[in-house]
Amino acid sequence: TGALRGVVALDGPSGTGKTTVARKLAAKLGAGYLDTGAMYRVVTLAVLDAGVDPLDADAVAALARAVRCEVATDPATPGARLDGTDVGETIRTPRVDAAVSAVSAVPEVRELLVQRQRTLIEEVAREAGGVVVDGRDIGTVVAPDAPLKVFLTASAEVRAARRGAQDTAAGRETDQAAVLASVERRDRLDSSRVSSPLRPAEDAVEFDTSDLSIEQVLVALTELASTRGLLD
Ligand code: DC
Repeated sequence: TGALRGVVALDGPSGTGKTTVARKLAAKLGAGYLDTGAMYRVVTLAVLDAGVDPLDADAVAALARAVRCEVATDPATPGARLDGTDVGETIRTPRVDAAVSAVSAVPEVRELLVQRQRTLIEEVAREAGGVVVDGRDIGTVVAPDAPLKVFLTASAEVRAARRGAQDTAAGRETDQAAVLASVERRDRLDSSRVSSPLRPAEDAVEFDTSDLSIEQVLVALTELASTRGLLD
């Protein structure tokens, strides 16, 4: 397998294995990795920590401009910082899950983060040659010229089961019915928001991962990248 050249846009809802696939694909292809969801999560954590109402769009936008949010772009060492503090674990808690859709629906927040994402993608692509970008609107908005766009899907039940297993692995108690409800609620909010709703780009390749292992998805994506001539 050669090294990746250019941008792979990997979009889809949570629980499709997207983040794991994106990170492993980047590592396998010697590429950089950008987790754009982590950026929305860091801003959401800042909002909650500041006691700002996630539904107060103006206050959320002002705070998003004021805080420093950083995400690591090496697939071997994922991480996130808020004003210099390591928040890699805190941004994955149910408290952030519950508020992140509201924060990421604020148009000013999206504009700000999309600009930063484009800058980061350029920087990382220049340094590493290629970059795998994990998100919801990468193929449609952030990197519409990406030479490979993939949209991962899976049934809500499968996605909730995966999320529950992640929580258990992280030592958090899980209530599977609540996890399914939260997954469905977030899908609804993310697909129906006015600013960049979650949807596949017209030229995206769609993969249903319900019955596929991470390894199978990785093999399929590597083949696709190779077919598109993106591997050195
Ligand atoms: O992929 P994730 O679960 O970490 O994403 C967290 C939230 O951020 C999700 O509810 C949708 C939002 N998001 C977004 O709106 N646009 C992106 N490019 C990435 C994530």
